[in-house]
Amino acid sequence: MWLSGGRMASVGRQSFGSCFRVLGRRGCNTAAVMPEAAGFEGVSDRSDLQDFSVCSSDSFWAAVARQRLSWIRPFHTVQDCDLSQGRIRWFEGGKLNVSVNCLDRHVHTCPERVAVIWERDEPKSEVKLSYRQLLEMTCRLGNLLRRRGVKKGDCVTIYMPPCPLAVASMLACARIGAAHNVVFAGFSADALAERIRDAQSSTVITVNQGVRGGKVIELKKTVDAAIQSCPTVQQVFVAMRTENPVVMTAKDVAMEEVRGHISNQNLLTVLTCEDTVCEPAGMDSEDTLFLLYTSGSTGKPKGLVHTQAGYLLYAALTHRYVFSYHDGDVFSCVADIGWITGHSYSVYGPLANGGTTVLFESTPIYPDPGRYWEMVQRLKINQFYGAPTAIRLLLKYGDKWVHKYDRSTLKTLGSVGEPINTEAWEWYHRVVGQGRCPVVDTWWQTETGGICIAPRPADPDAEIVPGMAMRPFFGIKPVLMDTEVYGSSCVSLCIAQPWPGMARTIHNDPQRFTETYCQPYPGYFFTGDGAYRSKEGYYQITGRLDDVINVSGHRIGTAEIEDVLNQCSAVAESAQLFGFSQFAQRLPKTRSGKIMRRVLRKVVDSELEGLGDLSTLDDPEVVQEIIQGHHDLL
Ligand code: WTA
Repeated sequence: MWLSGGRMASVGRQSFGSCFRVLGRRGCNTAAVMPEAAGFEGVSDRSDLQDFSVCSSDSFWAAVARQRLSWIRPFHTVQDCDLSQGRIRWFEGGKLNVSVNCLDRHVHTCPERVAVIWERDEPKSEVKLSYRQLLEMTCRLGNLLRRRGVKKGDCVTIYMPPCPLAVASMLACARIGAAHNVVFAGFSADALAERIRDAQSSTVITVNQGVRGGKVIELKKTVDAAIQSCPTVQQVFVAMRTENPVVMTAKDVAMEEVRGHISNQNLLTVLTCEDTVCEPAGMDSEDTLFLLYTSGSTGKPKGLVHTQAGYLLYAALTHRYVFSYHDGDVFSCVADIGWITGHSYSVYGPLANGGTTVLFESTPIYPDPGRYWEMVQRLKINQFYGAPTAIRLLLKYGDKWVHKYDRSTLKTLGSVGEPINTEAWEWYHRVVGQGRCPVVDTWWQTETGGICIAPRPADPDAEIVPGMAMRPFFGIKPVLMDTEVYGSSCVSLCIAQPWPGMARTIHNDPQRFTETYCQPYPGYFFTGDGAYRSKEGYYQITGRLDDVINVSGHRIGTAEIEDVLNQCSAVAESAQLFGFSQFAQRLPKTRSGKIMRRVLRKVVDSELEGLGDLSTLDDPEVVQEIIQGHHDLL
């Protein structure tokens, strides 16, 4: 473990001793602030509510859970958590079905409301599905899965681009009680195989081919290659995204009726042989909803486990309050469904809220760098949620691509995945949002399930400082700890108490979960990110403290990249640092053969005075070579 030291640098917001004084101070109810939280005695404004949500977390979450979710059976215990032991359990005793919460209850009140708008790769060819249609598609898929032997507790791997069928597949799993494991459709056969094996999936759902940026991607062939080394796989459902036939094997099951290119009406003919009614399974709050793999600092990806009630509640609440989502708004999160951002803010959050969500299948520059803003105009998007890397890319193409289109429907702009630099933030705010839309920089992780720090979780009028995530969400208590990483002192971000959306464990490796997140500071959730707190109490996230690098807002372990680089005959060995790589003749290694990454990091950061102790290096001269090489590169 690279951590050493570890004392609490400072606590969040203020001393929470004052909370209980707040309670009972005034007699108003909070309905105007947050309808879900109506009736908390003594809480009269947003800041009171934030304090209450942290200090009286059980009362807060119990009320919100009762209000926002439809339960088959009410829970008897709000939470039973012990972070130091890695035990995290919420809403025990409760039973519910996530697909019913995302679909059926809205079909009862507004069946024809648009649930998803599929923004296909081909420009101007969007497909809309109402809640009624999405429920029918989900039920048909649920019946198909059940008929083909998928049972409660199984884990289905989904290898598909963002499309209604992918969402229906996720919800169909939830309907029958199976867990899903969505694998980003850009991952290689090896990466897919590793995830299928770890999840022990017997069923895979895919499409014949994907289409992205005008290019065809051979998804089915990748699945074929992957399952060669996955003995558990017994069946592969194949839908048709393009018209090109693919070779089908004995394990493949065609979903021929499913054609991506055909009209909205025809999409209704998906699996016509299946019934449109599918009995939802009653699930315990803590049954697994999905696994999602994310990279760690060692090679093996971690299958983080999210469960039913707590995850859904947290995704829904953050979606509503972080972005000020209102009924009737069109919400667009342009992340792929293969990442947690797509899970929480393309699928579960918006659908749990009865919202309209856009599924973006394309790229920011296809067919040209005006794609996002043309889409905003055509679909009348109200909230747009994207990644700094895309914003930085578009900024380079200039303002004209933005000005071409009407963005007057936009109300909130969101950013996620990495720190957003000031230039990108300003451009997003001034050019894209015409200076009138708040930019919300949202900090969170696959492990946290939903947004934990964002500028306006409680107050839609609060001040926003560019490039800062700023304020904790309801129920979140951030804490900064002094720590030492590679000999330098840093401040790391921890969260001092559990919240419903957090991951419960790592599939097949509960001990790794406890060691990674719970043991560095017993009793606290350790995020692995560095942070800073301004004198006003606002948080700024500085990035990963470990060897995980962030490529385009997605986490990739340095070990995984080094594995690939090292397969290349020209590269004898490699070390990657925070997305930066350079070719050097030799790497600084200790006598025992370990690459001294902190030295590389210091060189990259041009902090040559702080190189620290080099005495364990095999050949200290290597450092000079690297410094020279880096200098030449700049
Ligand atoms: C980074 C993505 C700075 C951070 C939701 C975190 C951020 C990792 C921000 C999680 C932000 C995410 N500012 N850094 N607003 N949001 N990160 O699991 O290092 O793919 O630990 O989840 O992205 O990446 P993940």
